[in-house]
Amino acid sequence: MEAIDVIAAKRDGGELTREQIDWVVDAYTRGAVAEEQMAALCMAVVWRGMTRAETGAWTRAMLDSGERLDFSGLGRPTTDKHSTGGVGDKITLALTPTVAACGAAVPQLSGRGLGHTGGTLDKLESIPGWHAGLTPEGMRRRLGETGAVVCAAGPGLAPADRKLYALRDVTATVESIPLIAASIMSKKLAEGTGSLVLDVKVGSGAFMKDVASARELAETMVAIGTDHGVRTRALLTAMDAPLGRRVGNALEVAEAVEVLAGGGPGDVVELTVELAREMLQAAGLHDARDPAEALRDGSAMDSWRRMIAAQGGDPDAPTPVAAEQRDVLAPATGTLTRLDAYGVGVAAWRLGAGRARKEDPVSAGAGVELHAAPGEEVRAGRPLFTLHTDGPDRFGRAAEALADAFTIDGPPDRFPLILDRVG
Ligand code: URA
Repeated sequence: MEAIDVIAAKRDGGELTREQIDWVVDAYTRGAVAEEQMAALCMAVVWRGMTRAETGAWTRAMLDSGERLDFSGLGRPTTDKHSTGGVGDKITLALTPTVAACGAAVPQLSGRGLGHTGGTLDKLESIPGWHAGLTPEGMRRRLGETGAVVCAAGPGLAPADRKLYALRDVTATVESIPLIAASIMSKKLAEGTGSLVLDVKVGSGAFMKDVASARELAETMVAIGTDHGVRTRALLTAMDAPLGRRVGNALEVAEAVEVLAGGGPGDVVELTVELAREMLQAAGLHDARDPAEALRDGSAMDSWRRMIAAQGGDPDAPTPVAAEQRDVLAPATGTLTRLDAYGVGVAAWRLGAGRARKEDPVSAGAGVELHAAPGEEVRAGRPLFTLHTDGPDRFGRAAEALADAFTIDGPPDRFPLILDRVG
């Protein structure tokens, strides 16, 4: 087979066969198809799309490029959640131990942040001593002991996606629903979970800016999961405004711990509980305890402490605080009617909470504290945001990102927290 024929077939709007897809993904992973040829093929997919059969075959080929973990025999069902990413999305932190406290095992492979969205591993690494690297045996042992593991994907999992994602990132070919769906699902299927709940974010701070594209991505991923024998469902949830009141690594850990202690912002609690219920249902645990009760009675907190300690972290250690803080004041009195997730995400990133390139370090303490959420009253001259950073030269550019990120007394403009369900 020749790469040029596969590229031309897709360029001209044809449907690739399973053999063509298997061959091109495998040959690219081995280095037998050149980077420029794969880039051309990805661009053809961006323009021409892929059918359900092609997307399923592409996912399978990437899954088959590496190992597949197996957590059967743990004595409890496995279930996982994947979020397509957003601003202030610290849900995994409280959700994973909560679901474990209700009887399921959660093998959660997470990533690091890039650009304006945060990454779960960066957040957890702000806890002194905590480490993200585990072998499959280390994951299994901790899942048996605590029921909850959040760690980095090892190099053996879907290596084709690792190579391809790096290429798509620099060739403007990330924005394709079939390629995004195949990329996410190849990693989630390799993780070996028995069931999966997808949190597909919609809005300015998310990959998917509108409900129709988010629904298409959700339906594509649910179909792939189902075709691979994994019980998969999805929620479409709001990412037009940040989740909760804190954005930044250690700031978000502190907020998640508030949720685990039975408090925390209403939207973070509601989404944690809804996703936990979905995960328990998907895992077949129809008589499980209600997750809201696990948050109230301290068992989710106990589960968090065990999960953190099992990966070297000290759950009692104070989390890092940035060297400098500065308030941004509200310019008027009234109702905050819009708070733009993207603008807040960019501000947190410029303060040092995120990275522009994969190799960049992140600051544990940097980020943005929000003193009001949409729908709340603000007063002129009172703090609207507190900015946290280790580099005071970063304040100016962060404040610029926030200048257009809010409206006081405009028309109410918010998505409901949970927009739809798929699967
Ligand atoms: N996240 C992924 O893992 N893959 C994509 O293609 C996009 C987002």
